[in-house]
Amino acid sequence: MTAVRLEAFAKVNLSLVVLGRRTDGFHELDTVFQTVDLADTLSFEPAPELALTIDADLPVDDGNLVIRAARALAAEAGIVPGAAIRLEKRIPWGAGLGGGSADAAATLLGLTALWGVSVPGRRLLSIAAALGSDVPFFLYGGCARGTGRGERIEPMPDPPGVAIVLLVPPFGLATPDVYRRLRAPALTAGEGPTNLLGSGPGPAPDRNDLEPAAESVRPEVRAIRESLRSAGAVRARLSGSGSAVFGIFDDAGSAQEALSRLGGLPDGTRALVVSPVGREAFGARAVPAAIRDGWKGNWGVDKW
Ligand code: C5P
Repeated sequence: MTAVRLEAFAKVNLSLVVLGRRTDGFHELDTVFQTVDLADTLSFEPAPELALTIDADLPVDDGNLVIRAARALAAEAGIVPGAAIRLEKRIPWGAGLGGGSADAAATLLGLTALWGVSVPGRRLLSIAAALGSDVPFFLYGGCARGTGRGERIEPMPDPPGVAIVLLVPPFGLATPDVYRRLRAPALTAGEGPTNLLGSGPGPAPDRNDLEPAAESVRPEVRAIRESLRSAGAVRARLSGSGSAVFGIFDDAGSAQEALSRLGGLPDGTRALVVSPVGREAFGARAVPAAIRDGWKGNWGVDKW
């Protein structure tokens, strides 16, 4: 067993359509995820017991998805979980950037390799889905469509190169609060994913249906979005349920220039320029070599 070190990339939702509230309390979505080069780092080393250390003030017990992911994988493989896991936290939490979900997926990938266990791709995906709606996406990375709760993933081609400005306000938003505030109508029987994205790689609709709800909880979010638009973003959207907002620019130069034009941001808002992480780069940096073949084959599931 040799140590494994992985990057866990953040995501933005290029588009997020809410189709309605389901009887299980979740919302039926049609969303497009994209990994970006803002990442936590996780390292996994052999150890007799499970132990997590984090360079930030976050839970290191079952309150952390990393520990829950490790236990779920060990239960699936029928082994006693043992690993020393170190998490270097760079992705802001409560921001809609998927940090906790990315860490959970990285744990499934890292420990599958460290423990040398063989878990069928479909099982890995269903363990991921049980941990959280966004977790399965992070077993694919790159650009992908998510339907159902967001957990049914279809990889999409990498979009053309762009630069992304991320604005992270000094407050987070709790996902359940935002969905509750949405007061979405119940899903009507038989309603499936929209065809908004068509069958080809066409552009994702410029839309995040969670914005009105998030902006009613925190009106500052709207001001941040408008500031990005005035600074020239071709698209400025909330990521997931927020609180982070992202703006798309044609290249890194115009993204950098836009930073100096941003005004009216709440005190303490952090701004950074990131780029999309495509499929190949994700595979090389976020997936252990020992299980990369399974990843390349989309875990045996690339259409729902
Ligand atoms: O799946 P996850 O644990 O990330 O979801 C957190 C909360 O977000 C859920 O308990 C639910 O309130 C809300 N949610 C939802 N519909 C989704 C995803 C999340 O209502 N598709």
